Amino acid sequence: MSPRTHVRRFIAFEGIEGSGKTTQIQLLSNRLEDLGIDHLLTREPGGTPIGDQIRGLVLDARNTAMTPICELLLYAAARAQHIEQVIRPAIDAGRLVLCDRFKDATMAYQGYGRGIRHDLIDALHGLETLALQPDLTFLFDIETRVALDRARSRDTTKAPQLTRFEQEDLTFHERVRSGYLEMAGQEPGRFVVIDARGSVEDVRHRVGEAIDRFLATRGAPE
Ligand SMILES: Nc1ncnc2c1ncn2[C@@H]1O[C@H](COP(=O)(O)OP(=O)(O)OP(=O)(O)O)[C@@H](O)[C@H]1O
Ligand SMILES: [Mg+2]
Repeated sequence: MSPRTHVRRFIAFEGIEGSGKTTQIQLLSNRLEDLGIDHLLTREPGGTPIGDQIRGLVLDARNTAMTPICELLLYAAARAQHIEQVIRPAIDAGRLVLCDRFKDATMAYQGYGRGIRHDLIDALHGLETLALQPDLTFLFDIETRVALDRARSRDTTKAPQLTRFEQEDLTFHERVRSGYLEMAGQEPGRFVVIDARGSVEDVRHRVGEAIDRFLATRGAPE
């Protein structure tokens, strides 16, 4: 049988705000494009028209009344739509999929950050549609303060206002960061922790090395 039906290459980029995920996923996508490697670049929350509307709701800093459970279910709803409409079909077609945030972000933010019970989050993701794991997860790790400074100095023409999460205090983001690191420690086979300090070029180099190792074992899509 063709490796197409067997080899999955679903890669998620995770980490706190400002850790460099979007910068690096775009650079990787450009590089794959140059190499002629077919791939899909997508993001959460979002990735579909319905998901993008949910993204507007969950990130809008004016939605101060949103409860943690409402937030959890909105993320899960956007993800269900994203998986069924976009991610599964791409994986089934043998494409390499790059996703800017995925399920681990829910455990990190709503679990470790907001304090929702982890078994509840796991149970939700036990739903058949949502029970998809990335094959490789990059965790961009960097001091919280440095990352938030980066996020807050972001080009305001691209991101005109702070999101609900960027307005959270430092201790919230520290819980999220340490939650991510704990998850990476629990699943060393899936996670690659990327040192996200240094220049964009330094980090790009680290991601490149890790991707080359991954594709060497999985094979690049034809
Ligand atoms: N290595 C780096 N050194 C300095 N600045 C950087 C670096 N990487 C990214 N930046 C800048 O920091 C800001 C945040 O980066 P980016 O948007 O990639 O982070 P992110 O992890 O996607 O954040 P978010 O979770 O909020 O989407 C951007 O303005 C970006 O240009
Ligand atoms: Mg981003």
